[in-house]
Amino acid sequence: MLSSIKTAQFTSPSKQLAMMYFRVAIVLFGAQLLMGLIAGLQFLYPSFLYGIFDFSVARMVHINALVVWMLYAMIGSVYLMLPDETGIEKPFAIGLGKLAFWVLTAAVAVVVLVFIFVQVGPGKESSIWFINEGREYLEAPRWADIGIVVVVLIFYANVFFTYMKGEKTGIMTVMVANLFALAGLYLCGMFFTDNISMDQYWWWWVIHLWVEATWEVFVGTLAAYALIKILDAKREIVEMWLWIEVLMLFGSGILGLGHHYFWIGTPEYWWEIGALFSALEPVPLVAMFVHVLYDWGKEQGHKEAHGEGSAIKNGPAMAWVTINAFGNFLGAGIWGFFHTLPQVNIYTHGSQFTAAHGHLAFFGAYATILIGMMYLGIQQAYGIKKLKATFKSKMAIFLITFGVLGMAVALTIAGYEQVLVERAELGAGWQAFFTAQNLPWYVQAQIWREIMGLVTFVGFVYLLIDLLTIGKKEAAQAA
Ligand code: HEM
Ligand code: HEM
Ligand SMILES: [Fe+2]
Repeated sequence: MLSSIKTAQFTSPSKQLAMMYFRVAIVLFGAQLLMGLIAGLQFLYPSFLYGIFDFSVARMVHINALVVWMLYAMIGSVYLMLPDETGIEKPFAIGLGKLAFWVLTAAVAVVVLVFIFVQVGPGKESSIWFINEGREYLEAPRWADIGIVVVVLIFYANVFFTYMKGEKTGIMTVMVANLFALAGLYLCGMFFTDNISMDQYWWWWVIHLWVEATWEVFVGTLAAYALIKILDAKREIVEMWLWIEVLMLFGSGILGLGHHYFWIGTPEYWWEIGALFSALEPVPLVAMFVHVLYDWGKEQGHKEAHGEGSAIKNGPAMAWVTINAFGNFLGAGIWGFFHTLPQVNIYTHGSQFTAAHGHLAFFGAYATILIGMMYLGIQQAYGIKKLKATFKSKMAIFLITFGVLGMAVALTIAGYEQVLVERAELGAGWQAFFTAQNLPWYVQAQIWREIMGLVTFVGFVYLLIDLLTIGKKEAAQAA
């Protein structure tokens, strides 16, 4: 069924490969949501699937699928923009790139099956190699880790050598340098120590330095490319913004890492470092928000002055990029800032407040723009000049955004209750945890999270159908 997202029409094999990555990404997104719904239900009915498909497994697959679908969509986005930015239709070793795609996809399938079928067992050296490496978000066993490194090296070689041979735009220069850091950081999550503080110390290098440094810069390059494609935004302006954003993102995000070193046994000077630099992190997110709105306003104003109608050449992509600018600021910037000072974090640490921020930030900063890139891919695959949003595109945009926002609000309320009752009033002990979990504010919040999760899922179904049909429909209308 998914083959109806065309790839054959592309003359560029790089763009064909991009669509292959997008297809797997969207399937994994669906799987992620289903797992979330199961885990959410288990908050309400702890015995649901107990011993068959435990909360720990549902949660693990939920967040690993999240990371993997986003990485797939990111690789897809790079392959999509590569020919446009470098002027080279056929990257350096695209055949090998396709092979790498199949190897990676087969490995992902095996890892997920092992997660599902081998749910419990002893923690031995062999479990790390073959079953589960046990680091939240990056649980793939070591054989898969090594395989991922090989696949990523092939991907990177394709991007790097094509870049070296072709035109060197600012967007592509940032992309190539940033991808090097992004891929290199993965290695920090690959070795094991018995010391839990040390393990966490390095694990955060992957998680934090991904989502608050390298992935954010990645999004900056995507937004730059997308604004040029969707609005004909001026490259010089877009790239000028990009350089400023890169400077600010790395300037605050790298030492902002300290906000995860408050309570894990690392030296206390991290309190000040983490507080200061992570508090600066929302600043570049404001810049990114202003950037998108500024370019949109400018291009639209120009078109209107010349009586040329809408500047937007891809309605759904533009909507998702705008939600990205806003969602990144809200989920990462505002919700992140709320709990980033040690004085606050001592109460909120590891509560449902963290989960609220995690949902809103991953969605706002990444899911949105990656969905936008998929719509750009479809527009290009069908050679459509102006891709207008359909009813389904709009339903997807509304329901998914409303659903995730709703979940985040519900979880924030649950977190607030935990802070007041479990942490402040009852002193954060074992019993306090359960007392707080059983009070009505918490329970009702979890009910609303599940309802809003269902809303999100319905939105996803619209999204899936839209992605499968919009290209054909609009191409037929244009003909
Ligand atoms: C798009 C960017 C971001 C994403 C995707 C993201 C995601 C997450 C996630 C998933 C967690 C939970 C990690 C865990 O499982 O323990 C987390 C924790 C945290 N985030 Fe973010 N975040 C982002 C940006 C930010 C920013 C900009 C700030 C601060 C201004 C921030 C502050 C924090 C803090 C303080 C924690 C630790 C919470 C705790 O102690 O429980 N985050 N983030
Ligand atoms: C159908 C909708 C969804 C439901 C019902 C759902 C449910 C859940 C549940 C129950 C957990 C475990 C929370 C805990 O351990 O306290 C979780 C964790 C998480 N989910 Fe979702 N989720 C959904 C969609 C999403 C989406 C769209 C994203 C991001 C794009 C996302 C990102 C995350 C993250 C990052 C975590 C880990 C949070 C942390 O450790 O603090 N989820 N989700
Ligand atoms: Fe962080």
